[in-house]
Amino acid sequence: MAKRHLHDIDTNVDPWAFVDDVGTFRLADPQRSSYLYFPLVNEAGIMSAITPKLHGDINASQHEFLTPPTAVENLHNKRTARNFWVCEHGVGPWSAAGNSATQIPEERPGGAESVSMEGGLLYHEITRENDERGLRAEITNFAPVRDDMVELMRVAVTNTGEKTKTITPTAAVPIYGRSADNIRDHRHVTSLLQETWTEEYGVLVRPTLSFDERGHTRNETTYGVLGTEADGTAPESFYPVVEDFIGEGGNLEWPEAVVEDLAGVSAGTEVDGYESLGGLRFETTALEPGETAEYVVIQTIWTDDPDPATLVERYGSSEAVAEELAACQDHWREKSSAVEFDTGDDTFDQWMRWVTLQPVFRRLFGNSFLPYHDYGRGGRGWRDLWQDILSLLLTEPDNVTDLLYNNFAGVRFDGSNATIIGDEPGEFTADRNNIPRVWMDHGAWPWLTTRFYLDLSGDLQFLLRDQQYYKDLHVDRASEQDEAWSPEDGTELYTDDGEIYEGTVLEHLLVQHLTQFFNVGEHNVMRLEDADWNDAMDMAPERGESVAFTALYAWNLRDMSDVLDALRAELDVEEIEIARELQTLLDTLSEPVDYDDPEAKQARLDDYLDTWERTVSGEKATVAIEELAADLEQKAEWLYEQLRDQEFIEDEDGHQWFNGYYDDSGRRVEGDHDNGVRMTLTGQVFTLMGGVATDDQADAIVEAADEYLYEPKMRGYRLNTDFDELKTDLGRGFGFAFGHKENGAMFSHMAVMYANALYRRGKVEAGHRVLSGIYEQSKDFEVSRIYPGIPEYFSERGRGMYTFLTGSGSWLLLTTVTEVFGVKGRLGDLRLEPKLLAEQFDDGEAAVTCQFADRRLDVTYHNPENADVGDYEITAVSLNGDSVDFERTDDGVVIDREVVTGLDSEAVHDVDVTLE
Ligand code: G1P
Repeated sequence: MAKRHLHDIDTNVDPWAFVDDVGTFRLADPQRSSYLYFPLVNEAGIMSAITPKLHGDINASQHEFLTPPTAVENLHNKRTARNFWVCEHGVGPWSAAGNSATQIPEERPGGAESVSMEGGLLYHEITRENDERGLRAEITNFAPVRDDMVELMRVAVTNTGEKTKTITPTAAVPIYGRSADNIRDHRHVTSLLQETWTEEYGVLVRPTLSFDERGHTRNETTYGVLGTEADGTAPESFYPVVEDFIGEGGNLEWPEAVVEDLAGVSAGTEVDGYESLGGLRFETTALEPGETAEYVVIQTIWTDDPDPATLVERYGSSEAVAEELAACQDHWREKSSAVEFDTGDDTFDQWMRWVTLQPVFRRLFGNSFLPYHDYGRGGRGWRDLWQDILSLLLTEPDNVTDLLYNNFAGVRFDGSNATIIGDEPGEFTADRNNIPRVWMDHGAWPWLTTRFYLDLSGDLQFLLRDQQYYKDLHVDRASEQDEAWSPEDGTELYTDDGEIYEGTVLEHLLVQHLTQFFNVGEHNVMRLEDADWNDAMDMAPERGESVAFTALYAWNLRDMSDVLDALRAELDVEEIEIARELQTLLDTLSEPVDYDDPEAKQARLDDYLDTWERTVSGEKATVAIEELAADLEQKAEWLYEQLRDQEFIEDEDGHQWFNGYYDDSGRRVEGDHDNGVRMTLTGQVFTLMGGVATDDQADAIVEAADEYLYEPKMRGYRLNTDFDELKTDLGRGFGFAFGHKENGAMFSHMAVMYANALYRRGKVEAGHRVLSGIYEQSKDFEVSRIYPGIPEYFSERGRGMYTFLTGSGSWLLLTTVTEVFGVKGRLGDLRLEPKLLAEQFDDGEAAVTCQFADRRLDVTYHNPENADVGDYEITAVSLNGDSVDFERTDDGVVIDREVVTGLDSEAVHDVDVTLE
């Protein structure tokens, strides 16, 4: 036999394809792609990942895993998948999930077994058919839309052969039942805590204690695997203990109990102190040719008293499961329809449904609990919280205003913020691990989101709502600790008089921006502190500076100043109250600081931080809004000038762009270097977005990014060039292999923000190139190997990584709605500023359906001459057939909010826009 090489192996597969117009897709041979997984989740709190072989875990939190925690590499390494055995008498066992020791050759090309996957909103279905055996299994998994932490699995087994078969079915789901911390740490000792018993319908496990970072506490959580036949009949017997099920020398992919056809134990058995299994043996049955038998497996977690009877009643039959599945589909389809696109590309329109759900997934999963997201202990980061709200304002606006408001309670009076964010809105937990870190970008995101909210709602009053501040161990931007503070003191900031201190939302935003303005390093650029958006720029805490985020703060200051003017005009308020302490930072109103002098700036920040200790005075000062706006504008103006002059660089070849960083040795990071030219995308994005870059500078940036960052094999822009150095005076990212994650991957999040910035600057073709590159790469399944959606980044080989949970979902939806389709607000009024290319119209039409002012609008752009962006302008707008008045802006038109709010809130309204 001729010797073959590793790369000769045929890995070709057909890509997934959408099969309807509600996002359902099918993929043949999904098991031939590794690292694929699909999310299942509900509002009750069940979180699952599921692979084509039913691998992936089911959990409710870091400390409550029903099945063993599985990081991505374990998806193909560990034998802990959900399994369902069909033992045919006279033939032997077959795993309907493909998890038996002998099955892999059968499902490879040319084998007897074919597999296909259907992914829908939100269910996962695998069909596996074995021609030689004459068996087909359809396995459907989903989380019902109920207040139960349940993942349901329906298994339909069909005899596709010509003779009657006698089969014994067995469901086998390992019950791990404890904290992810124990996957190695005390794995065995914690199995001694397991109390495992069988009831009429299944196996329940309730550990006596829970061992985790909180110490040893009495456990309250129960884990269960229950099952029924189609008509509700209970299993015949049970295998509650792993070691009994697998037998000596067996394993979960060749369990002796199944292979040797050993009966299980009956209901009412208790076995304590062992690794547990949800092993349910169903009655042996005869299956005629063409006949199907169905089974239901209920995988569940109870945080209070277990109530298996209720779950069996609710889900324990084929009929019940069919109803629940339909309800689940309705629920998720409706969610994904919050925004609908109708372009010339139907695949794109469907793909966007999955993107639309990604921020919802992150709201539910947080940043942990899917296989790539094997870090963190639940919850999510501060910046992610705010950025996800950008799109949740479009898709789930009802819940979001409170979330937005509550989040301001996480701001510390020194401008930093809480970093451990709980599941409930406004729930911030004290940092138990005592990690004194400040991410310097954190203060910038709340304004972006608030501004978007104000544009959509016109609710300027929001800025004047009072909210408390966060207080914990860390003081003076985490440089000091308040030794007198203990968690029992709570996490609210108090006044000297012992009252909880409150300030307006506006005051919180001022605190975040003013502290940052003065917090500069030796180049008079804002200090990088422990990192910015790029978490991996974390090794320049002393001398590092982030030009990239200084630009964002500069833009915010300018934008806040504009909104203050509007506040004055609209709400007729001339003065506002702010904390007395904050006056120190409004230097132009009292004692101006020389902005050219970085030391003077730092000294002023120190003055501010010295004005209080543990508690604040609670006294307020009155400031004229006009003066406040002028102070902010003056600061912004200074920053704009300084960045344009000082940070716009040119390399030997004449390419020009913005330097984004200074390292811990105080050196400028970007430009010519002995190891090759150094450039970051982050440095360009915010200088472009907020207009720090002049038009000429913007042109130069696009050219330089095309030259140094564009990577054809990933169809996109890298986060940075190859520094070819383990740059320990900048960040851990430079320890990652080049082309991966934060070291030069095509990192979708920053790439989409780059596109957003380009659109804002009118560079539509360049912006479109970025977005369509990401879309093309994502759907190029043979390379990306991901289900529909945008991944966090693409690896050096082009594979999509960290699927589903990424801030790029939010930014992509936002950018597509507000920039590409140009449907956005202007402090409450409806703005239409389309930037669609001719190719994005289908027969001269392109449409988006979305919410504005609580009304559902179907906005259709009519472009009869198929003109390109730049060649068309809006000539007419009609609403439900009647022409509407508008005010013209540079890029489009504005329509009074009253026109929209006058509409019936139940119906969908046609907005027809003519472009000529
Ligand atoms: C992730 C983090 C985000 C961080 C980014 C870069 O991005 O969630 O906070 O800014 O890496 O380090 P995401 O997964 O949201 O795309």
